[in-house]
Amino acid sequence: MALVDTVYGPYSQQLIDNIREVIDVKKIDYVIANHAEVDHSGGLPLLMKHIPDATVVVSDKGKESIPKHYHEDWNFRTVKTGDSISLGRDSLVFVTAPMLHWPDSMFTYLTGRNVLMPNDAFGQHYASSARFNDEADMIEVYQESVKFYANILTPFSELVIKKIDEFKKLNIPVDIIAPSHGIIWRKDPMQIVNKYYEWASGGNDGSVVIIYDTMWNATEKMAFAIAEGLAKEGIRYRLANMAVSDRNDVITEIFKAKGILIGSPTLNNGLLPTIKPILEDLKGLRFRNKVGAAFGSYGWSGECVKLIEENLAKARIKILQEGIKFKWQPTADELLQCVEFGRRFAAAMKSQ
Ligand code: FEO
Repeated sequence: MALVDTVYGPYSQQLIDNIREVIDVKKIDYVIANHAEVDHSGGLPLLMKHIPDATVVVSDKGKESIPKHYHEDWNFRTVKTGDSISLGRDSLVFVTAPMLHWPDSMFTYLTGRNVLMPNDAFGQHYASSARFNDEADMIEVYQESVKFYANILTPFSELVIKKIDEFKKLNIPVDIIAPSHGIIWRKDPMQIVNKYYEWASGGNDGSVVIIYDTMWNATEKMAFAIAEGLAKEGIRYRLANMAVSDRNDVITEIFKAKGILIGSPTLNNGLLPTIKPILEDLKGLRFRNKVGAAFGSYGWSGECVKLIEENLAKARIKILQEGIKFKWQPTADELLQCVEFGRRFAAAMKSQ
């Protein structure tokens, strides 16, 4: 008998209680640890106290990461792509999946039932009373799936494409994809694999996200005027005030969009603190095929635009035009310049 992945540590006892509703825990011979991150491996210490002789099955890299998390001398067995473990009638087959999304990540496939258990891949941070995709609200599921991809897998998009190509060449029948987060794909399970391929290919919906924060509303007035300019060119936009927006949601909108306009007042020769994390995210997530520009208001020193542009460059976002900044509150004429700024950005973006 095998268990594929555990749970986050605080839920270890609940996992064991749930297993006991189905089988005697002591019947488990193998615990497959597809990935060391603690939301999946955190249940190992308590579980292994019940089954100290069981084998913990890991990838090469999992053999490095899991012992360093738990410092326990469990029986480890290392597997690579194509290795299998017989469970009697059916077998478990392993496919290593480095960087989807950690070096240690791997997929486990159950023959006979044709169930792919890809750990984080194809999942969502989503809790629902529905267990399967044919029971769930698919608008919510896809929004959560793209959010998961945008925030976790974006930097590894090239590897996602390679892994999907490699997996499809194996020609393995897949009737169910059961990620370790969110709903289980039972109806047309390959739909999410194909969607990953599309997302990994770096497309966008041609829209713009205007990300800003404001101290005394000057930068916000500029953001609204720039939005008006985008609308004049027929470009769809979303406004995100970082003082009240969820960063993961904003990253998701950036992922879908083509353009990113970032605005901040200058504060203490720098940017408002709410703007800085999203700039760090942009650097780390390495979005492809995005274009951007900066704007902001200031009172004295006015570094805002320069700092935002430096960060856009570090994130390899192509700066389409020089940023725009105004001192104190923008005048009616300056707001018209912001409208024009948005219109020019939209026109330039269309020609990219
Ligand atoms: Fe990489 Fe769900 O943990």
